[in-house]
Amino acid sequence: MNRHTQIALMRRVFAHLRAGTTDSAASVERNAAAAYAGHEWLAREQAVLFRRYPLAMGLACQLRQPGDFMTHDLSGLPILIVRGEDGRIGAFVNACAHRGARVAHGSGNRRKLACPYHGWTYRLDGSLRGIPDERSFPGVDKCTHGLRPLPAAEHDGLIWVVPDPEAPPAIDIAAHLGAELDAELASFGLAGYHHYETRLINRAMNWKLAIDTFLEPYHLAVLHRQTVAPLFQANLCLFDAFGPHLREVLPRRSLDALAAQPEEQWDLIAHNTLVYVLFPNTVFVVQVDHVETWRVFPVPGRPGECAMHLDFYAPDPIDTDSARGHWARNMDLTIRTVCEEDFPACEGMQFAFNAGARSDVVYGCNEPALAHYQRSVRAVVAAA
Ligand code: FES
Ligand SMILES: [Fe+2]
Repeated sequence: MNRHTQIALMRRVFAHLRAGTTDSAASVERNAAAAYAGHEWLAREQAVLFRRYPLAMGLACQLRQPGDFMTHDLSGLPILIVRGEDGRIGAFVNACAHRGARVAHGSGNRRKLACPYHGWTYRLDGSLRGIPDERSFPGVDKCTHGLRPLPAAEHDGLIWVVPDPEAPPAIDIAAHLGAELDAELASFGLAGYHHYETRLINRAMNWKLAIDTFLEPYHLAVLHRQTVAPLFQANLCLFDAFGPHLREVLPRRSLDALAAQPEEQWDLIAHNTLVYVLFPNTVFVVQVDHVETWRVFPVPGRPGECAMHLDFYAPDPIDTDSARGHWARNMDLTIRTVCEEDFPACEGMQFAFNAGARSDVVYGCNEPALAHYQRSVRAVVAAA
């Protein structure tokens, strides 16, 4: 993040601290509980948000070498992402052209991809290489029986995929993010980060509730009073929209010491947590010492369930026991706070919505990021 933006944001934080205020929406907003519990609405969200938009799938460090691959099922489509011989990222539907089996499982490195069912093999560019007992497949043209390609891009260290083989093949991530957010994400140097771990988390709540919980610090002093509340300024955040995407700045208590220092010395990252929503489903968190992503997906046909990947990335290589121990403790603390405090509260809300116990929910003026996110989802899905 450039110095100019850092100083402008810190000035806003200090002005709020002096006035006892926070960034505020013009008015209270309401959202229908059906947005979290309706089957028909979920189907529309899936068709629009999880088929048409580029979704963040990880950082480039997860696929460093030609032949490195990873698979991904949570979008509802089996996806295989590979770094090709030419160094470029490719994505494919992870379903064999023979009878549809998964060609690859998990992650790893392969020179070629061999389907584990009958052994059809594919090159890293998805083209079909070999058919065992090929004479039994007369008229099956190898040139037209490759893996189905998906639009994919590597952009400033992030890997993106559109989970729809019918979508236009080229994706423009800079245009998707907009110039300002694109430049800001580029400034973090994500291409230089190192992957620590990705965890799969399944919860009994609508996928948007997992995102909502990151979008206001109003709850910190109450829900997290025993854990992270003492680290943060109470009920104070900055909110800025970038189209449907957004950024929140959550100031830590440690920045009190900065008020007396000259502006040139202000270090925003050291004293604030930055939370971005990369629309539609990725919460991208810049912490003092690492970045983490929460990539949240609905479960088809089940509005009250979701699955997500939590990914942890560190700026330095994680190649010693002491570094691994450090990141294990760091990740466990994050998971304990979110999965043992936030998500149980969200599951309680979901239980109420499923039961028809509330017709709507209220977003306060002190929850502007939350209102913006939910408004963006509604607008995009309703317009499609
Ligand atoms: S399903 Fe892949 S080789 Fe048969
Ligand atoms: Fe929380």
